[in-house]
Amino acid sequence: MTGLLIAAMPGENAPATRLAAAMNTPMQEVAVHRFPDGESRVRAISAAKTTIIYCSLDRPNEKLVELALAASALRDLGAERLVLAAPYLCYMRQDAAFEKGEAVSQRTIGRMLSNWFDCIVTIEPHLHRVRSLHEVFPNTETTAISAAPLLGQLIKKICSDVASALIVGPDLESQKWAKAVAFELGASCVVLKKTRKGDKSVSVSLSDNAIVAGKRVYLVDDVASTGETLAAAALLIKSNGAQRIEALIVHALFDETADRHMHKAGLSHLWSTDSVRHPTNAIEVAPLLADALSKEQLNEHTH
Ligand code: R5P
Repeated sequence: MTGLLIAAMPGENAPATRLAAAMNTPMQEVAVHRFPDGESRVRAISAAKTTIIYCSLDRPNEKLVELALAASALRDLGAERLVLAAPYLCYMRQDAAFEKGEAVSQRTIGRMLSNWFDCIVTIEPHLHRVRSLHEVFPNTETTAISAAPLLGQLIKKICSDVASALIVGPDLESQKWAKAVAFELGASCVVLKKTRKGDKSVSVSLSDNAIVAGKRVYLVDDVASTGETLAAAALLIKSNGAQRIEALIVHALFDETADRHMHKAGLSHLWSTDSVRHPTNAIEVAPLLADALSKEQLNEHTH
């Protein structure tokens, strides 16, 4: 049995191929047949001692069942160490029961994935009150990769005068990316204050001393879903006289309606990483994942 293999779940062929090339590792697709009754038949061709399953967990409900079946098929084929490479990790946002009877989905999904995998590698998991992946997956090795360097590199490519650009985080949670990107570019940084009143109702405010007028603004955030956060931020920044507003996000979870909404609010362009397949993808995460999953790190488990 070979030492290392990447197994790509449906729809992941292209990013998994990029990862396999970056790691110089063989890659195989996991075949999934969906029966008319909605059930799935999952078939893996072969396993390696260490097998990495590539599966980004956006729109996760159906994917989770097929991932469980793939993990068990690969174990049956002899995989001793199963690694999940999930550039986007689902269900990380609900880390508490806000009303009696609500499932704490982060904990439940965390335990489930922990049972299937020995190691989980992801990019910018959306953690809030629970601060580390170790708490979510107590018995599993985990790596959370920061995408801030990739966002900074893209701004360097698309902006002719980075030092005069303004990096804006739309809420307090985005502060760490906004500051990291601004630091790398030597640019200034502003973080807005956000109040979320509901799924589709967000308001943001700017501190009095922030100078936005005439600036080329880059909004940076981990996720865009309904697009409300970036739309509210773009409206506010535009009304304060910004010259041009673009946004860079890690995980593009939004649909066309949200896309139109954000552009109408004043966003000229939106760029995303390919952690989730999306028309706005402009940044490949394969080098980051390859680094985290490098053969050197896995070597001790492959012999
Ligand atoms: C919030 O904490 C996140 O960083 C994002 O700002 C949020 O998830 C974006 O969601 P939406 O696009 O639905 O406003």
